[in-house]
Amino acid sequence: MSEGQVQTAFTKRVFSGIQPSGGLTLGNYLGAMKRFAGMQGQGFETIYCMVDLHAITVWQDPENLRRATRELCAGYIASGLNPEDSILFNQSQVPEHTQLAWIFNCVARMGWMQRMTQWKDKAGKNQQNASLGLFAYPALMAADILVYHATHVPVGEDQKQHVELTRDIAAKFNHDFGVDFFPMTEPVIEGTATRVMSLRDGSKKMSKSDPSDMSRINMTDNADAIASKIRKARTDPDALPSEAKGLEDRPEARNLVNIFAALSDTPVDAVLKDVGGKQFSEFKPMLSELAVEKLAPISSEMARLMEAPDEIDAILARGAERARSIAEPVVKRTYEIVGMVR
Ligand code: TRP
Repeated sequence: MSEGQVQTAFTKRVFSGIQPSGGLTLGNYLGAMKRFAGMQGQGFETIYCMVDLHAITVWQDPENLRRATRELCAGYIASGLNPEDSILFNQSQVPEHTQLAWIFNCVARMGWMQRMTQWKDKAGKNQQNASLGLFAYPALMAADILVYHATHVPVGEDQKQHVELTRDIAAKFNHDFGVDFFPMTEPVIEGTATRVMSLRDGSKKMSKSDPSDMSRINMTDNADAIASKIRKARTDPDALPSEAKGLEDRPEARNLVNIFAALSDTPVDAVLKDVGGKQFSEFKPMLSELAVEKLAPISSEMARLMEAPDEIDAILARGAERARSIAEPVVKRTYEIVGMVR
């Protein structure tokens, strides 16, 4: 069967996940949550997960994990995901993910896993001391995606290799068992305008693990904190250019313009047409005002939801139930294909 035929056989379905490991930043919002919300109601079924089982591939304090899972759910909803239109749930409530992951552990090869750059980065020099779960992480991620026969996966550039591995696992499974059961999932990669960099160093990704809190805007920051971080953000002494090309060797300037463009849903060139020639002393207050206007309602909705953990837990339980109704028949069929007596 040609690839075209394979693709048409599957419902257009989006799956993506974020690890609840604490501390959501503007990078998570623009790079993931806002994009996830944008895919709702676009002719896809949308499924978004809090991947708690992935989070524990490195040690997590149990109370923090519980809190971070609820906070991520609150963040998803505050960013515009509607729990009726999208399925929102945490991974560990749907046991089919781990059931399929075991099968994929037996399909994927050690060599494939060893080549994963995230494994090499996260395990570092001491691979012998990394958890077995960290090594198998990409097989669980493939299961997350394929247990729903998801066709599209919005992710950052750093996760592209894992989605390609998901395709390799699907292809090997289909080939080894002579079936055409799993789809060839497409990664949907973020544009440059949604890759948010550190406010202190335009060559590093904005990260919750950066030791300096001034390097990032947290989704829970209040207006004063947002304004002061943008005011102190690193820049260069030149005025802003009037075309994107003029940002090429100016990572800090480019980052601030990209953030402005993404928050205002305006192409970078259109932003620069407006602000080209301005000094940062003039541009930064514009950016602060925009960031506060867009983020304040999100952080206050998150805070409201965090005061109502029962509401969040009910949403997650309902999401898990809906997710299971898709995942269960896929696992059942997979186990039959593999030859398990049922
Ligand atoms: N590995 C992803 C990350 O760290 C999170 C993730 C887990 C994911 N399972 C997924 C993303 C499935 C997309 C689809 O960002």
